[in-house]
Amino acid sequence: MQATFVIFGASGDLTSRKLIPALYKLHCKKRLKDGLRVIGFSRSPFTHEEWRKELTATTKKYAGDEFNDATWEEFSANIFYHAGDIGVPGDFDSLGKFLGELEKGAAATRVYYLATAPQFYGPAVEQLGRSGLADEANGPRRVVIEKPFGIDLQSAKELNKIVHSVFSEHQVYRIDHYLGKETVQNLLVLRFANTIFEPVWNRNYIDHVQITVAEEVVVGKRAGYYDTAGVMRDMFQNHLLQLLMITAMEAPFKYEADAVRNEKVKVLHALRSLSPEAVATDTIRGQYQGYADSPEVANGSKTATFAALKLSIDNWRWQGVPFYLRSGKAMSCRTTQIVIQFREPPQRLFSNGASGLCGSNRLIIQVQPSEGIQLHFQTKVPDAGMKLRQTDLDFNYLREFRRPMPEAYERLLLDALEGDASLFARADEVEAAWKVCDPILKAWAEQDAPPLLTYEPGAWGPVECNEWLEAQGRQWFDTCPVLA
Ligand code: BG6
Repeated sequence: MQATFVIFGASGDLTSRKLIPALYKLHCKKRLKDGLRVIGFSRSPFTHEEWRKELTATTKKYAGDEFNDATWEEFSANIFYHAGDIGVPGDFDSLGKFLGELEKGAAATRVYYLATAPQFYGPAVEQLGRSGLADEANGPRRVVIEKPFGIDLQSAKELNKIVHSVFSEHQVYRIDHYLGKETVQNLLVLRFANTIFEPVWNRNYIDHVQITVAEEVVVGKRAGYYDTAGVMRDMFQNHLLQLLMITAMEAPFKYEADAVRNEKVKVLHALRSLSPEAVATDTIRGQYQGYADSPEVANGSKTATFAALKLSIDNWRWQGVPFYLRSGKAMSCRTTQIVIQFREPPQRLFSNGASGLCGSNRLIIQVQPSEGIQLHFQTKVPDAGMKLRQTDLDFNYLREFRRPMPEAYERLLLDALEGDASLFARADEVEAAWKVCDPILKAWAEQDAPPLLTYEPGAWGPVECNEWLEAQGRQWFDTCPVLA
């Protein structure tokens, strides 16, 4: 069946930086089986030709070495533009007419991608419903919704209500680009396609888990948006909780969208909700020095650019195993890693080599950059008595597969076109994630506990964050990945 991809908010940055390059690369790899038409919808008054010209320049820039004039010519011949305003119902009617002409009335899969500012998600969905564009009589109709999906539980519920008044849940694809990362999908493979990890993947063997998403960049041009969101809404509600769910979930009975999402959402339901007292002791928040002077940041802003949380999962597998999550901007390096810190051996036979907790086994999943997995274990140093040293088994994607990782959007856009929602968030999942974040955001807004700490750009967050973990007998794994 032919396929049509309509982008609302087409003149924005996401379209030129991520969506079009990803679709173009899929075309280069011949993954778009039946060809694809791309239609941009936004207010700017482009002609088809003008928009293609714009996208030629941006795709050249963002697709890098993979850009090829002839292949782009072929792909871009199927790019069109329809000027329109989400606030004007007639513009959806004319869009519908235009799509009908392009598809020549034949059945087609249509994906509507909402790449607009978040306040337009609801109105765009309503218009898709009113104009009949969501009607599946002539082929599947799907809607992809970018993040942020709401700003708290209440707004997420309201948005879900609007979405469900037009689309059934199976037509809705809430995107979290972390799920499109190869290494995140590989976490499922590591856990559920190998037998050796499962027996030790629980409270009997694991002391704690650390999930770090550190970014070197500062807020830059996105300061206006960021100041209203902060790190909790920008990173924790979506990306970090997704990583936590995949690390902690039970095996689904099959690899299929609902089976996977059922298991993921159970993890969120089992997360212990933080009381205001627990927020004071189990969360850390910080702001990098200089943030408040950034243009578009409110004077005296209290927005956190860094946070660390201690979360507990109240189920059989994870009872008593803390999950430490941390993320921040302006940190030492860019690294996303999941550290599974195993317990110490029950007896210290080798006293000269014993080096405390950090000497016990550790599995490190390097989500990015330098994608790979390392297993740390103790080894006898040759010819040195019973002296021990931490060594590692090291798997690196680039060394092993010798090709660059695909962009997360490639996988996700292809899945949306093919109707596989496994790597997209379901309505209940998004709401459950807000249920975890809301009490923290509320407590942070109402009280000065924990205080908003500061940190120097280029550090691993506030020094107090290290002291906080040390007081719990643990240490952060603060290591920048070595690029292969
Ligand atoms: C986005 C956040 O969702 O993820 C950004 O809004 C953040 O603030 C980005 O920089 C991080 O994504 P990645 O893929 O670079 O880790």
